[in-house]
Amino acid sequence: ADGTVEIPVVVNVIYKTAAENVSDARIAEQIAVLNADYGGTNTDASNIPTEFQTVKADDVKVRFKLVNTIRKSTSKTSWGTNDAMKKASTGGLDATTPTNYLNIWVVGKMTSQGRTILGYATFPESAGLWNDGVVIAAPFFGKTGASAPFNLGRTATHEVGHYLNLRHIWGDANCGNDLVADTPTQTTANYNKPSYPLYNTCSGVSRSVMFMNYMDYVDDAAMFMFSAGQKTRMQAVVDASGSRAGL
Ligand code: ARG
Ligand code: ZN
Ligand code: CA
Repeated sequence: ADGTVEIPVVVNVIYKTAAENVSDARIAEQIAVLNADYGGTNTDASNIPTEFQTVKADDVKVRFKLVNTIRKSTSKTSWGTNDAMKKASTGGLDATTPTNYLNIWVVGKMTSQGRTILGYATFPESAGLWNDGVVIAAPFFGKTGASAPFNLGRTATHEVGHYLNLRHIWGDANCGNDLVADTPTQTTANYNKPSYPLYNTCSGVSRSVMFMNYMDYVDDAAMFMFSAGQKTRMQAVVDASGSRAGL
């Protein structure tokens, strides 16, 4: 009644080693991180700089509820971004009704063009398709036993942001457009743990960069906010007339 949408989640774990077979406790921990970050109750929200407090999304009004965990053992050691993990016929697990459930696949290791990747997601244009959902590599899923500096569950927060229509905050181009007005235009991605304030210049305008946004590339401990504009974009996807209304 308060407009909060609770998204049912199916976690599909495809593992080779015991470490890749993430525990139920770790899955619960990951869901709790999503709920805190989307609810704006993450404790590190206290680090949001004063200048961005007026544009922070207090509560995105999206929550997550684990409804099923499906596990499958595999002999495959590494996966790519070609969606093989999303089909039984290619060694993966078929999605559970993606129109109605957010499917998250956890695989042991993922690479793209020879580099390790943390995760990837489909945008709302893929709503309901067989490959719709989020993939996270096990070392970056949940918190306990995860790999620093990506061990606070924020890879899922970031990927679910894409799933709910958010672009990278730098718009994937030099001074690109993320289609959100209240996130300051920034030249490029930020990494590691930048120190605030960080300025950059686009079209001759110097701006303080919102590098602590979940849709930048900083370490898990350095990201702790969505903006109000990002909330509006995500709400448009899950509301009754949105492309993910079936969730
Ligand atoms: N590189 C991935 C992507 O573009 C995920 C980045 C997640 N960042 C993090 N601090 N966990 O979707
Ligand atoms: Zn991303
Ligand atoms: Ca922007």
